[in-house]
Amino acid sequence: MEGKTVLITGASAGIGRALAAEFAAHGHDLILVARSVDKLRELAFELSGRHGVRAIHIPMNLSKRRSAGELALAVRQRDLQVDILVNNAGVLEAGAFRHADPDDLHRMVQLNVASLTQLTHVFLGPMVERGYGRILNVASVAGFQPVPGIAAYAATKAYVLSLSEALNEEVRGSGVSVTALCPGVTDTDMAQKVSQLNPNMPHVPPLLLSSVGSVAREGYRACMRGEAVRVPGIANRIGTFWSQVQPRWVVRTLGGLVGRQLLKDR
Ligand SMILES: NC(=O)c1ccc[n+]([C@@H]2O[C@H](COP(=O)([O-])OP(=O)(O)OC[C@H]3O[C@@H](n4cnc5c(N)ncnc54)[C@H](OP(=O)(O)O)[C@@H]3O)[C@@H](O)[C@H]2O)c1
Repeated sequence: MEGKTVLITGASAGIGRALAAEFAAHGHDLILVARSVDKLRELAFELSGRHGVRAIHIPMNLSKRRSAGELALAVRQRDLQVDILVNNAGVLEAGAFRHADPDDLHRMVQLNVASLTQLTHVFLGPMVERGYGRILNVASVAGFQPVPGIAAYAATKAYVLSLSEALNEEVRGSGVSVTALCPGVTDTDMAQKVSQLNPNMPHVPPLLLSSVGSVAREGYRACMRGEAVRVPGIANRIGTFWSQVQPRWVVRTLGGLVGRQLLKDR
């Protein structure tokens, strides 16, 4: 399984950066994608030096409409073959939906949903023709239920979860798999920004805060094994299991009680 080429979006920070390190440690060549050129360049240099893999970077803003096509073209022009695609790049818009900036919402949907879908579409077909491929789509525990307070973000992650599960079934037996990785709150810039922006946000107890390393390790394993869905961490697995066995109205009502509290005076 070593020596495959993996394209990782959102590789300059957080979970994506940890996934890049994990794939490199297992001997895979890297195509690193995000907007921050310097961070990508440094990471490519560091990981290729440490693990002896080939690592290149392609800077791209995936919240722009044609960016997924431009990325696929840039990969073709470099004569590279993508064996493993990791759709990790994502942003979170938090707060009352009615107060959200429409441009921010549009950029989030473009990145979390549209670009992820286009990249999956571009690379899945050739993987099936070659009889081998892995796609790892980073969703979230927020994809399992409606979440007032991050309503549109959670809806983008529900989309990612649903798309990944359906595609994994569509291509079953082809040598290709599509895995949804659903982390809970993970110690990254994204999680910190959300708690800084909202003083009503309770402190996340250490038991419920995952490290990027543990999320990346579980994500790598699930992806290479071809699992359909992976929720990293026992506490998150219990939480998502609970929400799936309750009547939807119970989950929705509880989410409403918590969500309205968090949005109080905001
Ligand atoms: N942290 C959590 O608690 C948590 C929980 C569940 C799921 N997730 C999901 O995990 C994924 C990674 O999140 P994270 O917490 O690691 O976030 P993060 O630390 O904020 O990193 C986000 C990554 O995405 C890239 N990115 C952002 N906007 C982009 C754009 N327009 N085009 C290309 N790349 C872009 C960023 O790089 P540049 O700024 O250089 O572009 C960065 O590399 C996301 O899909 C997120 O929804 C996170």
